[in-house]
Amino acid sequence: MIQSSAHVSVCSPQMNSISLVCLLLCTRVSSFRFEELTQYVASHEEEFIETLRQWVAVESDSSDVMKRSDLHRMMDMTADKLRLIGGSVEMLDVGTQALPNGSSIALPKVVTARFGGDPSKRTVCVYGHVDVQPAKKEDGWATDPYELTDIDGNLYGRGASDNKAPVLAWIHTVEVYKALNIDLPVNVKFIIEGMEETGSNGLDDMIVAQKDSFFSDVDYIIISDCVWLSKRPALTYGTRGNCYFFAEVEGPKKDLHSGLYGGTVIEPMTDLIGILDKLISPSGKILIPGIREAVAHLSDEEWKMYQDIEFDLESFKNDIGLSELMYSNKVDLLAHRWRHPTVSIHGIEGAFSSPGTKTVIPAKVIAKFSIRQVPNMDPAVVEKQVTDYLHSVFAKRKSPNKLNITMVIGAKPWLADPKHPLYEAGKAAVKRVFAVEPDLIREGGTIPIAKTFQDVTGKNIIMLPIGGFDDGLHSQNEKISRYNYIEGTKLFIAYLHEVSQIKKY
Ligand SMILES: *[C@@H]1O[C@H](CO)[C@@H](O)[C@H](O)[C@H]1NC(C)=O
Ligand SMILES: *[C@@H]1O[C@H](CO)[C@@H](O)[C@H](O)[C@H]1NC(C)=O
Ligand SMILES: [Zn+2]
Repeated sequence: MIQSSAHVSVCSPQMNSISLVCLLLCTRVSSFRFEELTQYVASHEEEFIETLRQWVAVESDSSDVMKRSDLHRMMDMTADKLRLIGGSVEMLDVGTQALPNGSSIALPKVVTARFGGDPSKRTVCVYGHVDVQPAKKEDGWATDPYELTDIDGNLYGRGASDNKAPVLAWIHTVEVYKALNIDLPVNVKFIIEGMEETGSNGLDDMIVAQKDSFFSDVDYIIISDCVWLSKRPALTYGTRGNCYFFAEVEGPKKDLHSGLYGGTVIEPMTDLIGILDKLISPSGKILIPGIREAVAHLSDEEWKMYQDIEFDLESFKNDIGLSELMYSNKVDLLAHRWRHPTVSIHGIEGAFSSPGTKTVIPAKVIAKFSIRQVPNMDPAVVEKQVTDYLHSVFAKRKSPNKLNITMVIGAKPWLADPKHPLYEAGKAAVKRVFAVEPDLIREGGTIPIAKTFQDVTGKNIIMLPIGGFDDGLHSQNEKISRYNYIEGTKLFIAYLHEVSQIKKY
C-alpha cells in the first residue's frame, strides 16, 4: 500500500465520487515498478558516471567566446544523447550574440526533446543547462576542473553539480523507463540551453515564440538547477529577484592630483560614498523609503515552516569564516536570506584599485549596487524609489557634481505555492526514496528563467534540486556526490510517477 502525501492530498476531498477515483488511483499506484527501476539505476551507476565524465570534459564555458565551439559541441552531445534514447529532438536557432568589438557570433542552439505524446497523460517539461562557469586549475582547484575526479565518493569537476549531473539524471530517468520497457507515466519534454551562466541570451524570446507550440501541452515545468540546504533533501519554492543599479557621480573633466587640487574641489568619490552610506544601516535596515513597506508579511505558518527546517547556523558561519552574523537565530537568518530584500554594494568603477599609493582624485566614479527582490516588490517601482531617494540625499549635499542613477537589471522574484499538488508529489517522491520529509526552502539568489516561464507560459513550476549544500557551484572544487547523483536519479524516477497521479478536478 502506498502512503504518499500526494496521494493523501489527492484523496482528501469528502465527496464520494472522488473516493471512487481514489480507489482507481490506488490500483494504478500499486503497479509502479519502483524497485525494478531503481535496481537498474544502481546497476548502471558506473555507466552514468562515465557519461558525466564525458560531459564534464567539454569546456562549455558560455562566458568565453574562444570556447564557443566547445559549447556548440556540448549542445550536439546533449541532442545526440536524447536522440539515442528515442526522443524527438530539435535544435532551435536563437540568433547571435553581439561582441564588444562590434562583430557577432552564433549563440548555442537550444535543445528541445519530446518523449511520448499521450494526451491522457500529464506532460512535464524539464529545464536545464549544460554551459558552465569558467574554471582553471590555477584558480585553486585541487584537480583538473575538466577531468571528473572521484575522491571519497565526491565527483569533482566544473559543471558537475551546476548543471550537468542533474540534466543527465533527468535523461537517465527517461532512459531507465525505456530500457526496462516500462511506459513513461507522463509525457516528458526537455528544454536544455547553453547560455544560462551569462544570462540565458535568446531564451526569453524563444519561450515567447514557443508559447503556443512547444509549451501548449505542457502541464508543469521542472527545474533542477539549485541545491539542498543541508544533508536533508529539499524542494525549492521561491527565489529572490534582483534590481541592479549604476550610480555615477561626475565632477571635473579629468582626474586630478590630490596635492595640487585636494581641498579646492568637491570630490565625486566623497559624494558617492556619502550617498551609498544612506542605502542601508549597519544593522541591515534598508533606508530607501517604501521598500520595507512593500515586503510580504511573514505569516505564523511561514515562521513555523522555517522553524522546522534543518539548518546549522554554526557550520554556516564556519563555512564563510565569520564569528558573527546579522541575525543569531535560524528563523531570522533564513528569512533574511530568502524572503527579505537586501542591499549589496559590489564595487566602484573609476576608483583607483591597484596596490600602491597613487594620490588621484578620480573625475568620475560609478558605484554598482543591487537590491534583492522579494514579493511584493516591483522592479519598476523600486527603480523610482531608489532614483528619487538618492537624488534627494545627493541634493542635501549641495554638490556641484552630477549624479546619474540607472537600473540595468530588473529581475522579479519567483514564488510557488508549496501546497500545490506539484509539491505534494515532490514530498511523496522524497519520502519514497530517502524516507524523510523534504525541507521546503527558498533560494536567496535569482533564477530569472523561472519567472519568465511563469509569466509567459502560465504553467506551474517546481524546483526539485538534487545537488548537495556543499557542492560549491561557481566556486573552486565544484562537485556532486555519487550519492546525490544516483539517488537523485531515483528521486526523478519516483517524481514522474507521483506527478502522473495528480488529477484535475
Ligand atoms: C572580435 O572579437 C572576437 C573574439 O575575441 C574575434 O574572434 C574577432 O575576430 C573580433 N572581430 C574583429 C572585427 O576584430
Ligand atoms: C546616465 O548613465 C547611463 C548609463 O551609464 C547613460 O546611458 C545615460 O546617458 C546617462 N545619463 C546622463 C544624463 O548622463
Ligand atoms: Zn545552474
